[in-house]
Amino acid sequence: MAELFAPLFQPLRLGRKTAPSRIVFAAHQTNFARHNCFDSRHAAYYTARARGGAGVIILEGSVVHPSDWPYEYAIFGYDERIVPTYRMIADALRPYGPVVLAQLTHSGMQGTSHYSQAALWAPSPVPDVNSREVPKEMEPEDIAAVIDGFATAARYAIEGGLDGVEINAGPESLVRQFLSPLTNQRQDEYGGPLENRLRFAREVIAAVRRAVGDEVVVGLRLSGDEHAPWAGIKPGDAAEIARILSSEQQIDYLSVTSGSIYTPHLIRAGLYMPPGYALHLAAEIKEAVRIPVFAQGSIVDPRQAAMVLVEGRADAVKMTRALIADPDLPRKVREGRAEDVRQCILCNQDCVVQSVQNPRLSCSINPAAGHEAHAEFATLPPAVRPKRVMVIGGGPAGMEAARVAALRGHRVTLYEQNEILGGALLLASAEPGRKRLELIGQWLEAQIRKLGVTIKLGVTATFETVRAEMPDAVIVAVGGVPVLYPGVDFDNSVPVLNERDVLGGAPLPPTGKAVVLDEIGDHDGMAVAEWLVQKGWKVEIVTRDMFCGQRLTATQELTAWNQRAWSKGVVFHPQREAVRVTNRTLIMVDRFSREEERIEQVDLIVDVTYDRPDETLYFTLKEAGFGSEGMPALYRAGDCVAPRRIGQAILEGYRAGRAV
Ligand SMILES: Cc1cc2nc3c(=O)[nH]c(=O)nc-3n(C[C@H](O)[C@H](O)[C@H](O)COP(=O)(O)O)c2cc1C
Ligand code: SF4
Repeated sequence: MAELFAPLFQPLRLGRKTAPSRIVFAAHQTNFARHNCFDSRHAAYYTARARGGAGVIILEGSVVHPSDWPYEYAIFGYDERIVPTYRMIADALRPYGPVVLAQLTHSGMQGTSHYSQAALWAPSPVPDVNSREVPKEMEPEDIAAVIDGFATAARYAIEGGLDGVEINAGPESLVRQFLSPLTNQRQDEYGGPLENRLRFAREVIAAVRRAVGDEVVVGLRLSGDEHAPWAGIKPGDAAEIARILSSEQQIDYLSVTSGSIYTPHLIRAGLYMPPGYALHLAAEIKEAVRIPVFAQGSIVDPRQAAMVLVEGRADAVKMTRALIADPDLPRKVREGRAEDVRQCILCNQDCVVQSVQNPRLSCSINPAAGHEAHAEFATLPPAVRPKRVMVIGGGPAGMEAARVAALRGHRVTLYEQNEILGGALLLASAEPGRKRLELIGQWLEAQIRKLGVTIKLGVTATFETVRAEMPDAVIVAVGGVPVLYPGVDFDNSVPVLNERDVLGGAPLPPTGKAVVLDEIGDHDGMAVAEWLVQKGWKVEIVTRDMFCGQRLTATQELTAWNQRAWSKGVVFHPQREAVRVTNRTLIMVDRFSREEERIEQVDLIVDVTYDRPDETLYFTLKEAGFGSEGMPALYRAGDCVAPRRIGQAILEGYRAGRAV
């Protein structure tokens, strides 16, 4: 192991327990719960991270009182049924030695009454910015009941064999709502000056410590900056809160986060924020306290993680998404294989599961995440008889298929029609602020090169190429092809290009006015708009959606994108249907009033719509008998099945590589 990484593996004392490494897997929603308790799926998920070398594992938040039921699959930490399920996880993780903690939480006004069918509880009747649900101001007996709930839930965690608990006073918590003047407008002894706003946190900490004694860990998760410059907790306030609460010697560590009700996009920021964007908050708190401080905020690169410790900005690093993407990150770094780490690309696509559809947590680049116990992710069986495998297409699906087939011992040749590997990922990573996406392509390429896959670049593999080679198996992963925006009558007065052409370097008019017709509402259209602005174009976006970039809410990128787009003068036309283009004029109608509007003197139209699968090669092979008895096996993976996202491409590539 390079010397730089050594500090990550220095044991860390937390109260009377010792963590074997300083890499923390922090609490996060998974939707794995069964009957609102931990499930064997949780155990398999956490075991993979413990085996991989995480030093501290903080389990998915356990709700401390029935007044809080923030999502359907929330963990009920106040319910005695939780104890054996904690024990199942503690037993599974013990052989690997991490410090295992329950996170005790109450969401207050940031929850929902949807499941509990009762008013939300909060310090004051301030509605949440997103849900707009006005909570009930907690009465003294409510406050007492929640404090009691924290103590009971803490006791259950220890009875279940865990090493301690973490009290959540982070961005989405009742404890923060009491600390912050943004959400605490009480006139009694729990509101007003800092001394009063601290009272609830102090009483919670004291009750928890009384309940569990001194032998186990009690930590506190704290928001270091609510990013509401006109009010709320600012970095200086957070340091003062941390100083006061830690001076009472009841807590063993502080875990620093960022964000609050107005800034959910700064809690687990996406691609547009640089890795380590919140490190300064941890550093400031570390200066103010004498207990260990955990830093967080898109820490995904082991080098950056190590530097945080070397520079003394924190005592441990939370690498949550980093370990979702690669549970073996610590082990690989320790073994001197840091280059083999599959780095999280900060896409927030498959691990953010706060959605009405209740998706289970997974990962775009690590399809095994959340499915660890599933047979298809069991250790890869070596090939009984090494086969000659032909993979056609060098995007994520093709490269993953080649990687997995080669890992099994097959002799793999990968054909890519371009001179470089990456496929659609290359274009996606050309979009402003999305360069990080190229990391997954680079990782896959490095792995297949190491595994000895033969790579044929600049070769368009056709039916004849396959017939000439006659391999044992063919995996088609040739991607999708764009289609023209539906329902619009284009004359030839303005060039109409899709976003692939634009990002791929198609010749454009020098500059002028571009209209982006967006059918998707995701980063595809928003990013090409931004790309054009950067090249000097004036850009207007037309979409049927209620607002531009509607799907960016899911990945928590909408706020930051809006800020950038407005500052660059992008003009938005939501709720409009494009009808036709005549003489450089785009004619559109309001979706509701059907009134006609025009954008004149247009120089370029960028048509952003769904692709269709490129199925020709697959069906030609199929019709020629490939895939049938006595003929080479035939598979297809990724966008050439149905154009979707990286996650599905990699999963299907994995499946094809495994099936060969
Ligand atoms: C999918 C997901 C869900 C999360 N849910 C919670 C949560 O319920 N409670 C919590 O305290 N933190 C939650 N977090 C925040 C993480 O604990 C951690 O602070 C966050 O992932 C940022 O760290 P990272 O940049 O290393 O990923 C969640 C994070 C992710 C990725
Ligand atoms: S889904 Fe994206 S952000 Fe989440 S862990 Fe995987 S790579 Fe990282």
